[in-house]
Amino acid sequence: MTSHTFEKLAALVKTHSGIHLTEAKRQLVVGRLAKRLRHHNLENFDRYYEVCTSSPDELQIMINTITTNETSFFREQHHFTYMRTHILPHIKTGHLRVWSAAASIGAEAYSIAMVLDEILTPHAITWEVIGTDINTDVVDQANEGLFPMRFAEQIPLEYLKAYCLQGVDTHEGEFIIDDYLRSKVHFEVANLMEPIPNDLGRFDIIFLRNMLIYFDNPAKEHILKNVLKTLKPNGMLFIGHAESIGHLTDEVTQIKPTIYRKGARS
Ligand SMILES: C[S@@+](CC[C@H](N)C(=O)[O-])C[C@H]1O[C@@H](n2cnc3c(N)ncnc32)[C@H](O)[C@@H]1O
Repeated sequence: MTSHTFEKLAALVKTHSGIHLTEAKRQLVVGRLAKRLRHHNLENFDRYYEVCTSSPDELQIMINTITTNETSFFREQHHFTYMRTHILPHIKTGHLRVWSAAASIGAEAYSIAMVLDEILTPHAITWEVIGTDINTDVVDQANEGLFPMRFAEQIPLEYLKAYCLQGVDTHEGEFIIDDYLRSKVHFEVANLMEPIPNDLGRFDIIFLRNMLIYFDNPAKEHILKNVLKTLKPNGMLFIGHAESIGHLTDEVTQIKPTIYRKGARS
């Protein structure tokens, strides 16, 4: 792929997802998109660029292929500990709503749900978890709740026993989140660069983790503005350990590194 073609493709990705692909990512992009060239039997990336600009379906497949969806259950464990010890014990009534805003295949959202169910359900406090992602493939996968068995070792044994079922027959080597937990968690497609759909509602807690790293500062600011509109006053925001937002918004106050509360410092 020539520099010029890479720049055109990178601009297309930026326009539609906000993701900032630097020149250093060129080989990665070539590797990921090579199978799309083969699929369409195209001789070069210029032709592929033309296909993407004329076909919304291929554009979505291209975005799906470009996004990095690495995730795990109970990733950055200290956030789950903080939620369990510092947030949930203070919830006495009402319906708690939590958003996994760049959810990938759903490991984060289901981890949150396991903790909420353990702590809130015995006190008759209702709750729900919503996951969103720009990648349509991972959203489908997340709604299915099926995971390769290697993910099982990330889940504490009590949770594994309580909420996960071993796959059989065609699902040999996989496990599935049980119907009960899946009924409390749902996933939809949303691009955080665009205004967040009103019907997503407002949230008490938002996980926006390991996503902002793929954006430049203006896009990060834009995403934070969109996302924070949906966070209730005093609501909590978690970001990834490699991310920092202090210089990008004054809508939240840092409580600990990567943990924020909506509202100015009192
Ligand atoms: C590395 S994963 C993080 C998953 C999870 N939050 C975690 O920490 O394990 C980043 C996710 O952000 C999603 N993403 C990238 N750009 C997005 C956008 N503009 N809107 C919504 N999601 C986006 C990707 O598709 C990917 O699944």
